Amino acid sequence: MRNIAVFASGNGSNFQAILDAVKAGVLDANVKLLVCDQPDAFAVERAKAEGVNFFAFRGKEYPNKQGYEQEILARLTEFEVDWIILAGYMRLIGPTLLSAFDGRIINIHPSLLPAFPGKDAMGQALAAKVKVSGVTVHFVDEGMDTGPIIAQETVEIAEDETIETLQNKIHQVEHQLYPAVIQMVLSSSRRNSK
Ligand code: GAR
Repeated sequence: MRNIAVFASGNGSNFQAILDAVKAGVLDANVKLLVCDQPDAFAVERAKAEGVNFFAFRGKEYPNKQGYEQEILARLTEFEVDWIILAGYMRLIGPTLLSAFDGRIINIHPSLLPAFPGKDAMGQALAAKVKVSGVTVHFVDEGMDTGPIIAQETVEIAEDETIETLQNKIHQVEHQLYPAVIQMVLSSSRRNSK
């Protein structure tokens, strides 16, 4: 069974969906660690409630990205983590983690990439008045929400859509899609013995 670490910055509803999928037996993985760059985030409370180890840090307490990523890497090594699962982690992954986890980092983003990368993807979609947006799961590279796309699912945007209603729709899709895609990626990596 693969060991995974989930990285989050906020509410952690996708982290919860991953934990629930493991409990339900639909995701064959060990969630070894939560990494969170906001010690006050609700994601940390979820880790405590579920008995998951966590590493919470503040970026500004380190001289640079390499500083905190080296500390994260030490934790990932300690917990024998095989894959990094980004779930609302609002920082770019740097060379330290990218080289150690080459091809073994995936991310979920609330738009149909390459449309609306970066922050506030749902706000960007509403401002652009698109009729359809969605969710993308992709491998992570050095760019902002770039990297090879693994799966996408569309979400229709209604005339009277607000950020809250769109967020609800997107989250509903994410909470089903992400655990299923993680399962697919982990099982195909097992077949390829990575
Ligand atoms: C999710 O909608 C995820 O797609 C998005 O952050 C949200 C986190 O929600 N990620 C990005 O925007 C990455 N660029 P959560 O904390 O409730 O899981």
